[in-house]
Amino acid sequence: MTRDRFIYACAECGYETSKWMGRCPECGGWNTFQEIRMQTASKDFSKRGSLGLSSSAASKPVPLSSIENGEEERFSSGSTELDRVLGGGIVKGSLILIGGSPGIGKSTLLLQVSERVSRERGQVLYVSGEESLSQIKIRARRIGASSPYLFLTVEREINRICDQVAELSPALVVVDSIQAVYDAGVESYPGSVSQIRQCCGVLLQCVKDLNIPVFLVGHVTKGGAIAGPKMLEHMVDVVLYFEGDIYHMYRIIRAEKNRFGPTNEIGAFEMRDVGLVDVPEPSKIFLAERPHRAVGSQVVATLRGSRPIFMEIQSLVTESPFGNPRRLASGIDLSRLLLMLAILEKKAGLCLSKEDAYVNIAGGLKVDEPAVDLGLCISLASSFRNKEVCSRTFTFGEVGLAGEVRAVSQPELRIREGRKLGFKRCILPAKTAKQLGEMPDMDLIGVETVGEALECALEV
Ligand code: TYD
Ligand code: MG
Repeated sequence: MTRDRFIYACAECGYETSKWMGRCPECGGWNTFQEIRMQTASKDFSKRGSLGLSSSAASKPVPLSSIENGEEERFSSGSTELDRVLGGGIVKGSLILIGGSPGIGKSTLLLQVSERVSRERGQVLYVSGEESLSQIKIRARRIGASSPYLFLTVEREINRICDQVAELSPALVVVDSIQAVYDAGVESYPGSVSQIRQCCGVLLQCVKDLNIPVFLVGHVTKGGAIAGPKMLEHMVDVVLYFEGDIYHMYRIIRAEKNRFGPTNEIGAFEMRDVGLVDVPEPSKIFLAERPHRAVGSQVVATLRGSRPIFMEIQSLVTESPFGNPRRLASGIDLSRLLLMLAILEKKAGLCLSKEDAYVNIAGGLKVDEPAVDLGLCISLASSFRNKEVCSRTFTFGEVGLAGEVRAVSQPELRIREGRKLGFKRCILPAKTAKQLGEMPDMDLIGVETVGEALECALEV
């Protein structure tokens, strides 16, 4: 007779312990521990096998050289932006987890993908655990989905979902969402750590056997991570995050993990009344509403994966009416703003300690690349001195604590994109400028310190 063993897992981050605790030592959440009954491992594995391999094949070691070079089979999701993030398309038999805040457009994107894939490759099964068929139909009407090969089901029990998958043998399965499904054999409510883990395991086994790709929708916690055990992210092949500000139209998809491609690519979309539309040249859109010759506005060249993205940093520096000045940053890390203010004060002689400073990345974008430092400094100084920056100048470069301007990766790529977007002048790290020498149609201004950069940018 086997005895049940219980462990406790944090519902926010998946931290496991043998005793119940009031506060999670990993994520700091209060009252987040849930009791989980452990299943005997041997029983579990014998039922599921190991990732779809038969136990005899899995247990016998084989020389690496004897394994044939298997090209992974991919097909297009119907969206070039999504394909780019996936590393060239959907890999057959892969499990793709896509997380994002409510209302960002996860269900819309996946319904669009389902529609396109069903037209190209045959049956697609869209499993909804959250919405009724009529609700999905309303969304389908908005995005113009009417494929006869797109099958919808409102089902929440994972074994019945797997039965339907096996019966239909579709080209693609969408499960919306992993938090809504449950396994009737596990005693806890849907969305709990043990349910998520179990359901993902059952689904994984089912689709690896049948070689069917699956999109799994994941809810996110307040902190922005996918809710449920961290193990969920280990079990799947690809983890995508859908980001953006729901008050803005633009959405960015990025890969956090990808077993079949790079993780630093991003895909850009625009939410319209007909669903999500690809944005092949995001820089053009992010710069479209830029005011000409405005004070406090500086364009920076950032890089996401192999793709340069130009964005506008806007700053407003104004005398603080209170003793304690306010500093607000949107789209950029607040500590980065505080650091740049300190560097400007100490190294460039700008007296900012009594000024309020507000910084925004236009278009609701988020950026964490150090290459924006120089642009941030120029934008802050431009607003402080009330001097406009030439609107045909862009910049990139990291700023160090000594006020020095440091080189960043792939400068040619950034400059080439700048030329394409019609920029004439680039303020960049001196070392990079020296390495590049002359560039056609682009005036390269190398700067060594942040003070030098301000002189070049604001004295034109
Ligand atoms: P939804 O896909 O339901 O988001 P999620 O599944 O991530 O919670 O869609 C979210 C929002 O998108 C919703 O507020 C309405 C808007 N929307 C459009 O603007 N245009 C459209 O064509 C559709 C389908 C939705
Ligand atoms: Mg949804």
